[in-house]
Amino acid sequence: MPLFDLNPKESPKELFAREKELDELVRLTEAKRWVAILGPRMAGKTSLIKVANVKLENAGFKTVYVNLWGAQRTQGLLNALARGLNSSKGLSQKIKDGVRRIEGVSFGPGGVAISAPKKPMTTTWDLLTAIGREAGDYVIELDEIQELAVISGHLLKILANIFNTYSNIVFVFTGSMFGLMKTLLEPGPSSPLYGRSPAKIYLQPFKKEQATSFLRRGFQECDVKVSENLIDEAVEKLDGVPGWLTLYGNNIAVRKLHHKDALNETISEGLKIVKDELEHYLEGRDRAGHISALKATATVARWTEIKGAVGIGKGSTVNDATVYNILESLKAAMLIKEEKGVYRVDDPMMKTLLLTSKLT
Ligand SMILES: Nc1ncnc2c1ncn2[C@@H]1O[C@H](COP(=O)(O)OP(=O)(O)OP(=O)(O)O)[C@@H](O)[C@H]1O
Ligand SMILES: [Mg+2]
Repeated sequence: MPLFDLNPKESPKELFAREKELDELVRLTEAKRWVAILGPRMAGKTSLIKVANVKLENAGFKTVYVNLWGAQRTQGLLNALARGLNSSKGLSQKIKDGVRRIEGVSFGPGGVAISAPKKPMTTTWDLLTAIGREAGDYVIELDEIQELAVISGHLLKILANIFNTYSNIVFVFTGSMFGLMKTLLEPGPSSPLYGRSPAKIYLQPFKKEQATSFLRRGFQECDVKVSENLIDEAVEKLDGVPGWLTLYGNNIAVRKLHHKDALNETISEGLKIVKDELEHYLEGRDRAGHISALKATATVARWTEIKGAVGIGKGSTVNDATVYNILESLKAAMLIKEEKGVYRVDDPMMKTLLLTSKLT
């Protein structure tokens, strides 16, 4: 049941309609260009990385997939890095002599093991250096990099040093488009990564016809019949986001839910994830102002309407600079888009959340 499998896809034939992005990721990586993969939640970022790894391994790269979910501090980064090294084919054997001398790192039957190093940042640098010193080309993928926001200053320095010293290491990043990812992609002149920012690959939701074919093919694979008008409704409500289409298909084909329940469950799951993401974004920002602006843009709005809504939300008159700053940071975080003076929320789940929940 490959298409409706809820895990990230891992082989090229399981990855639907991402040939262009896959080729681009492989091409850039082979050319030693660092890459950031962007897109809304559940767009297929992890799947793209994992499938690209099959091709990159065939092309002679060693790939290290590092899942940073929940990592937070340097110790978490080190543990995630060790897990990535140990699951990379043959890599931990290759670097074992180099890593044995590093403080806080040992090498046992399970591969690289991290104890509690006294200076975790130094240990991180030493570990990456041990990889860089080995012959061969390496791709290290930091998935969900926003988790490392707290240590971003140190991390950026380490990344810049790697960039300057070990051209055989290529980094690929994914993460929410604010905080650390933004600093990576748009480094200011004082940032250690100034002039070295990664190339961007943006994963758009599937177009309507692609989303329809995705569901049709998935149901066919599972030998389940679903009428065209139900498929159309699902495509419309889930707006082509691959992960939501997959979950909906899985709810029907595997859990045997009826269409309505399968769709409702998918939407409520989606709302939870999007709310989490939004709360994360709102941390440390002018909450009332941002929420009012977002709610206004959920129904498509122009500057004056947004300014009015922000004023009402904050309970005071607001000046143009305040509205400008709010809209710019919402755009930078990819939460809204602007076209010819009209602002809109694109992600259907985010739109539903803004229109249906209180969010005070
Ligand atoms: N192009 C695709 N073809 C087939 N299935 C896909 C595709 N893209 C995503 N999926 C499926 O959608 C779900 C989400 O994919 P994935 O985890 O790769 O997305 P993500 O962008 O990394 O999500 P998150 O924002 O949670 O990190 C998974 O079940 C995956 O199998
Ligand atoms: Mg992911």
